[in-house]
Order: sequence, then structure tokens, then C-alpha cells
Amino acid sequence: VSGGARRLVVDLASTSRNWSLPAWGAERIRAAAPPGWEVHVATSSTSSDGDGSGGTAPEVLEAAGDAEVYFGFGLSEALFAAAPRLRWVHSASAGVGSLLFPAMRASDVLLTNSAGVMADPIAEHILGGVIFLLRAMDVAVEQQRRREWNKAPFVAEGATVREVGECRILVVGAGGIGTAVARRFSAMGARCTGVRRRPELGAPDGFERVVAPDGLEEALREADVLVLCAPLTEGTRGLLDGRRLDCLPTGAIVVNVARGSLLDEEALVERVRSGRLRGAVLDVFRQEPLPAESPLWGLPQVLLTPHVAAVSPRRFWERELELFLGNWSRYQSGAPLANLVDKDAGY
Ligand SMILES: NC(=O)c1ccc[n+]([C@@H]2O[C@H](COP(=O)([O-])OP(=O)(O)OC[C@H]3O[C@@H](n4cnc5c(N)ncnc54)[C@H](OP(=O)(O)O)[C@@H]3O)[C@@H](O)[C@H]2O)c1
Repeated sequence: VSGGARRLVVDLASTSRNWSLPAWGAERIRAAAPPGWEVHVATSSTSSDGDGSGGTAPEVLEAAGDAEVYFGFGLSEALFAAAPRLRWVHSASAGVGSLLFPAMRASDVLLTNSAGVMADPIAEHILGGVIFLLRAMDVAVEQQRRREWNKAPFVAEGATVREVGECRILVVGAGGIGTAVARRFSAMGARCTGVRRRPELGAPDGFERVVAPDGLEEALREADVLVLCAPLTEGTRGLLDGRRLDCLPTGAIVVNVARGSLLDEEALVERVRSGRLRGAVLDVFRQEPLPAESPLWGLPQVLLTPHVAAVSPRRFWERELELFLGNWSRYQSGAPLANLVDKDAGY
């Protein structure tokens, strides 16, 4: 770094255009640099999939040598090892599971994430998927393909058409996404219960009540729609296994936009196939890309998307830069950072 300047490395040239920092964004970061700071905006491409940090380009490893702040998708162990002067990492992803490797956890390097930044598009995605199933549009799509005019699945005894307003919604993870979902569903008349790790912090807007993780099974018994939007941590891995899915009422809908490993996919498939569950809306999978042989592909009652629920090309970078630039200025003044990750809690 020239003349002992402090360095920010920006590693956001995602291979996906939607997630790649636009030129105006790089300009905004440069323009916000306080005196004495140098900004290195990497041009080598990087991966924004999942928690990010599939690997780190040589250009970035070199620039990281005297970086004080790193702004990327996740953080690789190689980069962490190559950046001895690092003090603060900000990830443009919300999930941080893959960033909490032992050296990072043991260090006092600050870590902030983008929790909440993707909440609005994800909430709309969830609403769309749930209404798709409540209105039996999966049945309509199948019939349309066959050019079949048939009211029976919608009007016969045992038909599953329902309104949002008559549903009880259970949202596991009452954070950024969970609150955005609960606000929307409650505005449509549904009753929302949240599960959060720290229920003592209260029920956010949109929730009638929140319960602790140990109240999950009881809450499942009253959930017409279950939405999983909690981080993947040791407390949530494998959370929705077959036994817990069996706590849900017959005909319930399951949504997962969190991480695939929260949910037992085989157990879900069995219960959707048998009609025990109405269907599912899935954006995340235990293995991504979802293998071609997964039975999930073949179930019309499962609406699946390739981890794109958060996509919002017009608004993501506005929100993300507001968060990062606000934090950069707090970092300068020594004020507490927003979205600081609790490395022990894992989110
Ligand atoms: N599909 C996608 O593209 C996509 C995009 C963004 C995020 N995500 C996933 O969604 C997750 C949540 O995102 P967010 O922005 O809503 O994060 P957030 O604002 O940090 O919210 C996380 C919520 O989960 C709760 N929680 C933590 N541990 C729990 C447990 N053991 N049981 C129940 N609830 C628990 C937290 O409780 P407290 O509030 O009480 O601490 C908090 O309410 C991310 O970690 C990420 O994995 C997916």
C-alpha cells in the first residue's frame, strides 16, 4: 500500500450479473473513501453462490496482503491466511456458515453479513409460492399441459383450495426474512407465529407471538404453512426431520428458503407423495445444484427454484451499499457495526 494507506479490498465481480457490483456501485465506494484509504476493486470474477467464497483469485490474494477491510461474498480460508492485517470482513451474503472456520472464529476480526438485505424479494417469492399451492395452481398447470378442462380437483370433496387469511403460518427464524414474510401474511389476515433463538427479545411486527426453539414441536401442530428462514447453525441442522414433519397437520405446506440442510428432503418427498403434506416451495437444497436424479424434480406439488429467491436486480445493490457504507463510516468512528455476526451463535 502506498505511503502506509489503509486498504479496502472489494471482491464482488460475481460471475452472475445480478450479483456483480455495478460500475456505479464501485464509484460510490471510491467516493466514500475517507482520507488515507485506498480502495482496490478487483476485476477477477468470484462466486456469489450460497455463502459465497468458492475460491479466491490470485489478484485478490495479492491485494489482500495489506488489506484492513475485505468486502466480498463470504471469505475463503486462503484469503484469511494471506491477509494478516485484516480487521473487518463484510460479506454480501447472509449465510456465514462457511466463513466460520477455526482460524476466523479464534481471531478478533470483525465479521458483518447481509442478513435482512434480501428479505423483501424473498418474502414476495414465498408469498407467490404459497398462494400457488393454496389456489391449486399446480393442478391448473398440469391440466393446462394436458388441455384438460376439469373443475373437480378444485371443487370436489377433499379439494385443497384455501385462502391465505384462514391459514396459521409458522415462521422459523423471526429475523429479516421472517419479519418481511410475517408482515405480508398478517396483512392478508393470516395468523403468524415465529420461532426465534432469543424469544425474550419479543415478537417483531407481523407476529402474534414468538416461541423458543424448544416450543417448535407444539407450534408445528398448529401450522398450515411452515416457513424455514433461520440460519444454518448447529442448532438448526436437520431441524425438520420426518418426526417433526409428522407434527404438522395433514395438508400443510412446507417452505424452505434458508439452507437445504435444515430439512430432511427424503422425509419431505415421502409425505408429499402420500398426500400427507399438500406440497412444498423450495429454493435451497442439501446439494446444489440439485442432482438430476432427485425425486423432488418429479413432484408437481413441489415448486422448486434454483436458489434465486433473493434475486432483485434493481434494488439489491442500493440496499447492500447503504449497509456497507453506513458500516464503513461507523468503523471509522469506532461505533458498533450493524449486522455484526456472533461467531459463537453462528449467524
Ligand atoms: N434463499 C436465499 O437466496 C437466501 C438469501 C438470504 C438468506 N438466506 C438464508 O436465510 C437465513 C436467514 O436470513 P435473514 O436475513 O432473515 O437472517 P437474520 O435477520 O439474521 O434472522 C435469523 C433469524 O433466525 C433466528 N434463529 C437463529 N437460530 C435459531 C434456531 N436455532 N431456531 C429458530 N430460530 C433461530 C434468529 O433468532 P433471534 O432473532 O432470536 O436471534 C433470527 O430471528 C440466512 O442465514 C441464510 O442462510 C437465503
